[in-house]
Amino acid sequence: MITAFLNQKGGVGKSTLSTNYAAWLARSSAKTMLIDADPQATASTWASLRTQADFQTIALSRENMASEVMELAKNYDHVVIDGPPRAEKLARAIIIASDLVVIPIEPSGASNWAAGETVEQIAQAKIIKENQKAVFLVTRKIGNTVLGREIHEMAAEHETPILQNAVYQRIAFAESLTMGKTIFEWSPNSPAARDIENISTEIMEIYEQEDISKQTHPQSA
Ligand SMILES: Nc1ncnc2c1ncn2[C@@H]1O[C@H](COP(=O)(O)OP(=O)(O)O)[C@@H](O)[C@H]1O
Ligand SMILES: [Mg+2]
Repeated sequence: MITAFLNQKGGVGKSTLSTNYAAWLARSSAKTMLIDADPQATASTWASLRTQADFQTIALSRENMASEVMELAKNYDHVVIDGPPRAEKLARAIIIASDLVVIPIEPSGASNWAAGETVEQIAQAKIIKENQKAVFLVTRKIGNTVLGREIHEMAAEHETPILQNAVYQRIAFAESLTMGKTIFEWSPNSPAARDIENISTEIMEIYEQEDISKQTHPQSA
């Protein structure tokens, strides 16, 4: 199963989420690979700080990478893609390769214009790939902030659900990323670790319900 974290906007938490989601998968003993598809190489830099390699991280950010990713994925239970900001063609290749695109968005509407572009690209991909799945994931949530109305409108308009669980603004995420640690290594019993467990479990439920992988890659079924 290939899961991409994608939003044209930088700083929404793509790298934070993809590294920690990959870590969660590896902890549940799934054979996992993280693909750093951002030329700015946040995930690769993070991986280079690590002494423990519970999953492999490779850097791959080419506009024709889709078939290569699908080929690589045959050797893994899960592939997680850390997407780039501001890279339209690259984003398109990532969408084509992915079973599920998770679009991290911040709770306030104003900063989410770029998510609309990603949703638009997914809509285009759906024309040739009917079962393309996408969900919004609210990140960097502060307290009980209410979601902007634009977000609900965008979600409804594009028939893209919003995950029930959110990831909150928590300093442990920033610290662990800087230190080359997963949130489970850095602060295993923290609310931040629980955020990742919750969203990861919810993503797995989507896969279980939909059996997405089979639908989108019938040749590998
Ligand atoms: N939920 C969060 N709480 C606190 N800091 C966060 C959170 N998500 C991301 N950050 C911090 O914000 C910055 C950008 O996050 P990053 O995951 O690199 O975003 P992106 O990959 O979308 O550019 C990093 O310094 C990261 O540590
Ligand atoms: Mg990033």
